[in-house]
Amino acid sequence: MTLHLNDITLTYPDGGQRLTALDRVTLTAAAGTLTAVVGPSGSGKSSLLAVAATLITPDAGAVVLDGRDLRGLSRRETERVRRDEIGIVFQSPNLLASLTAMEQLVVVAHLRGEDLAVARRRAIDLLAAVGLGDRAEHRPHQLSGGQRQRVTIARALMNDPSLLLVDEPTSALDRARGEAVLDLLRSLTLERGLTTIMVTHDHDHLVAADQVIEIVDGAVTGQAPAGLRRTGPGLS
Ligand SMILES: Nc1ncnc2c1ncn2[C@@H]1O[C@H](COP(=O)(O)OP(=O)(O)OP(=O)(O)O)[C@@H](O)[C@H]1O
Ligand SMILES: [Mg+2]
Repeated sequence: MTLHLNDITLTYPDGGQRLTALDRVTLTAAAGTLTAVVGPSGSGKSSLLAVAATLITPDAGAVVLDGRDLRGLSRRETERVRRDEIGIVFQSPNLLASLTAMEQLVVVAHLRGEDLAVARRRAIDLLAAVGLGDRAEHRPHQLSGGQRQRVTIARALMNDPSLLLVDEPTSALDRARGEAVLDLLRSLTLERGLTTIMVTHDHDHLVAADQVIEIVDGAVTGQAPAGLRRTGPGLS
């Protein structure tokens, strides 16, 4: 899908005042492309993802998915869009300690009321797709940091989203593992025609992105195509 953020302003309560986390942010991301979001700590990167994820309603501006302005949707319709079309990988890994990799994925579908056998089959496929086919029965403490991160990515794909939002997927990883996760995100983006937005601190990752958005103090200060431009599958 095409994600368009149009002139988004977001403020948070801050003592008696308001803190401006996003200051008139505009960006467009197309299907089959990877957008990297960079900027200093506290600059608004996670806030940007939360707005795109429909988790926070901005003070002003529009989130537009494939031409649908979300301001025109009811709360229930917005929840449906989030549930069916958006995959989110949060900044802090949030796997449940007592569940195996397989169960982390299946529980998401089960909570949505899906058939368990169907969910298990999809979970097996997704764990294989992220290179964890042989780790399905392992619990988080039995997995490496990179493997845990890949479980969270597989889990975000359980609803077969069109929009994948990933917050600092490699920050806890060493260089080799970080690169493996980035390669995975890039190939998933191409193979599945995903619109992927990835926050990163690592400037080495920018060559893998189709565009780079730099945010400072909540405002976009730089927007550039990066690396070798690739041709997506042409979905939108
Ligand atoms: N729920 C909240 N209430 C109030 N202020 C918040 C809230 N969430 C974030 N902020 C503030 O908004 C600003 C942007 O925060 P955000 O988490 O988007 O930054 P970030 O770029 O993701 O930072 P980091 O790289 O450290 O993760 C910061 O000044 C932060 O303190
Ligand atoms: Mg953040």
